[in-house]
Amino acid sequence: MRIRQHVNPNQVHFARFRGERPELDGRAVELEVGCADAQFLFERAARDPSRHYVGLEIREDLVDLVNRRARSLGAPVRAVFCQAQLHMTEILPPGSVDRVYVNFPDPWFKRRHHERRMVDAALAAGIAGVARSGAELFVQSDVWDIALDAMATFERDERFANCAGEWTFWRGGNPYGVRSWREQNAEETGLAIWRILYRRR
Ligand SMILES: C[S@@+](CC[C@H](N)C(=O)[O-])C[C@H]1O[C@@H](n2cnc3c(N)ncnc32)[C@H](O)[C@@H]1O
Repeated sequence: MRIRQHVNPNQVHFARFRGERPELDGRAVELEVGCADAQFLFERAARDPSRHYVGLEIREDLVDLVNRRARSLGAPVRAVFCQAQLHMTEILPPGSVDRVYVNFPDPWFKRRHHERRMVDAALAAGIAGVARSGAELFVQSDVWDIALDAMATFERDERFANCAGEWTFWRGGNPYGVRSWREQNAEETGLAIWRILYRRR
């Protein structure tokens, strides 16, 4: 199957939510925004199958692949087709998420494409809406500008507190014991990775 490399999240095609909401049952929920193949979530689920793992993804083919894989493995992983900045609070109930990961968001390097970047005030509002008080928010990127922009976004939002201190990157590495596809790739090619860790107030 041919998977598209990138899609423009601002296309009108993505404006209305057409995905399927995950069925939750009170167990803890971990959420990855922009999950792609959900390697990170599948590995988290293998370590602790007692939780729900929800991935939000704008490429529909990948959503289908992830959900087929989850069914065949019997893994508690579920991908949801959506435009995360627009639909997060339609997908998940308020305060239902215990941890949020934003792993290696697309950099959209060209200046005219910056408006396609995923981490912005709307995404922060969505995360604040679905995360419970005390929930962790972990962001990582191998692109300095993206990491700094993400930090600026969450520093400006009073609903989040930086665990490392204001305007400070997280130096404790990835504390979750698994790696996303992009993270594995960045580490294997020796790229620097910038990380930030917040708590929902
Ligand atoms: C560079 S990939 C990283 C994938 C994975 N998190 C990793 O670290 O390997 C970024 C992913 O975010 C998805 N994405 C980009 N904008 C999005 C949006 N607005 N809503 C949902 N997913 C989005 C892309 O389709 C892509 O799969």
